[in-house]
Amino acid sequence: MWAQRFLRRSARQLKTFSRQISARIVNETNIEVLEEIDSRPLTFPGVWLRDNCLCEDCFHGSSKSRKLDWDNFDTRIRPAALEANELTKEVKVKWSDRHESSFSLEWLRARSFQEERQEEYLREFYRPATRHWSGAEFQEIARHFSYEEVMAQDDVLMQWLQALAVYGVALLRNAPLDEGVVRRLAERVGFIRRTTYGEEFVVQAKPGAQNFAYLSLPLPLHTDLPYYEYKPSVNILHCVVQTDSPGGSNMLVDGFHVADILRRDHPEDFERLCRVVVDWNDIGSEDGREFHNIWRAPVICLDAEGRYTRVNHSVPQRDSHFNVPLAEVLPWYESYARFVRLAIADSHAFKTRPGDVLTFNNIRLLHGRTGYDDSAESPRYIVGAYLDWDIIYSRLRVLKRRLGAGALKGGCQ
Ligand code: OGA
Ligand code: ZN
Ligand code: ZN
Repeated sequence: MWAQRFLRRSARQLKTFSRQISARIVNETNIEVLEEIDSRPLTFPGVWLRDNCLCEDCFHGSSKSRKLDWDNFDTRIRPAALEANELTKEVKVKWSDRHESSFSLEWLRARSFQEERQEEYLREFYRPATRHWSGAEFQEIARHFSYEEVMAQDDVLMQWLQALAVYGVALLRNAPLDEGVVRRLAERVGFIRRTTYGEEFVVQAKPGAQNFAYLSLPLPLHTDLPYYEYKPSVNILHCVVQTDSPGGSNMLVDGFHVADILRRDHPEDFERLCRVVVDWNDIGSEDGREFHNIWRAPVICLDAEGRYTRVNHSVPQRDSHFNVPLAEVLPWYESYARFVRLAIADSHAFKTRPGDVLTFNNIRLLHGRTGYDDSAESPRYIVGAYLDWDIIYSRLRVLKRRLGAGALKGGCQ
């Protein structure tokens, strides 16, 4: 045993000694760091290194924030001399303005400009890559977690949030049947997102309902609150009482998958739904407070790199004001009708049971509910709340830093 450990340690030491870190200036502005003779060099722009100097004058350690004087920052700064320290694994830089910086190899490696390292960072740490799914794949992609385990174990919390990020949906099971579940869950992640309809909201058939969802009629596929600029990101729907009538099932469809189909098979419709800005609205009053919400956005929203950011769809919450050129109207209706038909055809229906907590990405999935027969003998009682992605991603990153991404299992990476 002792001998084995000794041998292992010697091998490790040998490896360490055989590493030769070296650094050189390239093209007068860049710095190239070689970890070992035959490794691929890591190249760093001098201007970026100077901007990210970690000395006390340039960086505030406890807030992990840059405090360098940017009003007088010289973008033409040049590295003048370098020193690579084998023992401390650090690279020291003397700059043309005589300032000195020091960077550890570990710090540099984590910020590599190599394309595959950047992609890995974005995929593993920034935001997990999404996996789009068809309705037929629902059983395969749907992850189930125990509510108690999510509440008590950080690794299970991390797996739930990772599944939500990747697939846009995850189910928690065996939650207690009290009305505090959605708040406790939201607070386990961060904090609840308040909207016009409050923090926790109850979905049940109500006389004189102010919202279309609060009827027992079928609720067609939709995203919640498309009329908000800052839409709540994740829905938490806790089934407290489920109706015995044949209806009351939830329907889900991956809006990103439907957009993929449209992009592949009907590119003109796809382009139109990404471009034409639609008015979404909600007018009413809640707890005596009147509201008139409007947000204008396309059905499929893309970011600067052409990736989906969100999908908007709601029949009741689409405004009768449609502020587009006349010639756009009919073509847009045709494209939207195709999108909606594709979504309906691909949707998956299932009925939650008391104690189930359905969580899903409100700005990616479309969801709905089949109509049910509401009666005193067969009521339905769902408590809902929202969480925001900023809060979820932040929690996920903190957990990954603490537990390591290796603690993720079940193909959610
Ligand atoms: C809603 C909604 C689903 C349900 O209230 O917006 O989608 O299961 N409810 O009642
Ligand atoms: Zn400095
Ligand atoms: Zn809804």
